[in-house]
Amino acid sequence: MSTPARTPFVAGNWKMYKTVAETVKYVKEFRARVKDIGGVDIVLAPPFTALHAAAEAARASNVALAAQDLYWQREGAFTGEVSGPMIREAGAEYVIVGHSERRTLFGDTDDAVRQKVGAAFAAGLTPIACIGETLDQRERGDTFEVLDRQIRLGLDGLTSDQLAQLVVAYEPIWAIGTGRTATPEQAGEAHTHIRGRLRQWFGAEPGEACRLLYGGSVKVANIADLIAQTDVDGALVGGASLEVADFCEIVSRCRPAAV
Ligand code: PGA
Repeated sequence: MSTPARTPFVAGNWKMYKTVAETVKYVKEFRARVKDIGGVDIVLAPPFTALHAAAEAARASNVALAAQDLYWQREGAFTGEVSGPMIREAGAEYVIVGHSERRTLFGDTDDAVRQKVGAAFAAGLTPIACIGETLDQRERGDTFEVLDRQIRLGLDGLTSDQLAQLVVAYEPIWAIGTGRTATPEQAGEAHTHIRGRLRQWFGAEPGEACRLLYGGSVKVANIADLIAQTDVDGALVGGASLEVADFCEIVSRCRPAAV
């Protein structure tokens, strides 16, 4: 059976950068520059405070919005947290879950990731679930074991339909914000491993449909070699998504050859 082509997916994770005013200015310029780029899902993830303004500025364009995290309860006495329905209402379609900065700085566990992924789907959001190993784990030869655990625990209980819709971002922690990118071969090898596990644990069809993004020091200079890998379907871009010109160029280089 031939596999249906996966639409490339490129998301800009702004982390804790950009005010509302800076966001609106960026989105206006960005949407104009990417309006003719077809065949790529284009997503921006501003901070919570700028999410609604970004969604308004991106209205009726080919740019979608993501939040950078969510809490799994719908509402309640959870000071500082934001729920899936609130994010959906603010205009986002996606939400990043389990980013390594959430895991290492704010204590998100694989079980928290599982609950957040479930809550995202329940709110009508598509999760972008992040996984990845530390430098220590890679050097000890534990990369695949770590990825397996994060997939098994973090995605436990998903239906085939949810898995097919899910976006997974492989982000080796040693490559995030360090300027040290995984080589295309390292990224390709990890992605092929992840794809194999998803097929094995959730079924061939959903495992094949799930989009796998690479993240970690993606820039204009390296995106073409990364996206050329069979199981790399796009990128989660941090630093290089903060400049309109760079991010447009990265998105543009992810266009399917036929478009
Ligand atoms: P970076 O961040 O592109 O700045 O390395 C990627 C990420 O953390 O998603």
